Amino acid sequence: MKNTIVTFKDAKERCEKLTMLTAYDYSMAKLIDDAGVNGILVGDSVGMVCLGYEDTISVTMEDMIHHTKAVSRGVKNALVVADMPFMSYQTSVYDAVVNAGRLMKEGRAHAVKLEGGISMCDRIEAIVKASIPVMAHIGLTPQSVNAIGGFKVQGKNEEAAKELIEAAKAVEKAGAFAIVLECVPSKLAAIIRKEVSIPTIGIGAGSECDGQILVYQDMLGMFSDFTPKFVKKFANVGEKMTEAFREYIKEVQDGTFPGPEHGFKISEEVITKLY
Ligand code: KIV
Repeated sequence: MKNTIVTFKDAKERCEKLTMLTAYDYSMAKLIDDAGVNGILVGDSVGMVCLGYEDTISVTMEDMIHHTKAVSRGVKNALVVADMPFMSYQTSVYDAVVNAGRLMKEGRAHAVKLEGGISMCDRIEAIVKASIPVMAHIGLTPQSVNAIGGFKVQGKNEEAAKELIEAAKAVEKAGAFAIVLECVPSKLAAIIRKEVSIPTIGIGAGSECDGQILVYQDMLGMFSDFTPKFVKKFANVGEKMTEAFREYIKEVQDGTFPGPEHGFKISEEVITKLY
């Protein structure tokens, strides 16, 4: 069944858990979509897991459009959400609307996601007014890694926790259809979930969110630079891939691959004429 922002709204009302994973290319998007997730995020995490940057700061609009196009071509049923990269919306409301529009028009996303709470509400409002659904993202906002001093759990003291509750209410009021809560204590996430009527999608925010999201390379054991505490490895695909690559090298070197079944035939008559 095709997922839309209405699916997300209905799921919250029915207390049905929402599932999201990231994807960055056509074939992975197809596999994830076929499995039946509600949403696929083309995350700016592409910068770390696909492009090898140490954070998401250098990801550009061109990177995001390129990967969103590929994902959109592979997806039939999931809601495709494209991340707005660093400095594509922080600079002005105008930039926010123009760049959100590009992710929809050129990338064929169904919605965009941007990081930040109260200070980003004017951007959220303006993008929503342009008929573009917005997913908000509060808690640990990786694009602010330099301002917050690292990838750290957010909302741990009373003041910070209250700020996050207020941020969640504000982005809902501004028109966001869902909120990603990243690296937020589980009990605080449970309170936020009750305080808003839009779905909360957790990553490192405990089990009481309305849904969950993970970066697919993390949950498949394909990204070894570091594994955050909140990640569960549902498979060790990275190890399997390394095994397969080693087997390929061995078989090429010892002549086992390619076998006759992998080659193309030509008639002996033609071959004899070549000598
Ligand atoms: O870019 C990303 O993958 C994200 C998720 C971690 C929510 O923003």
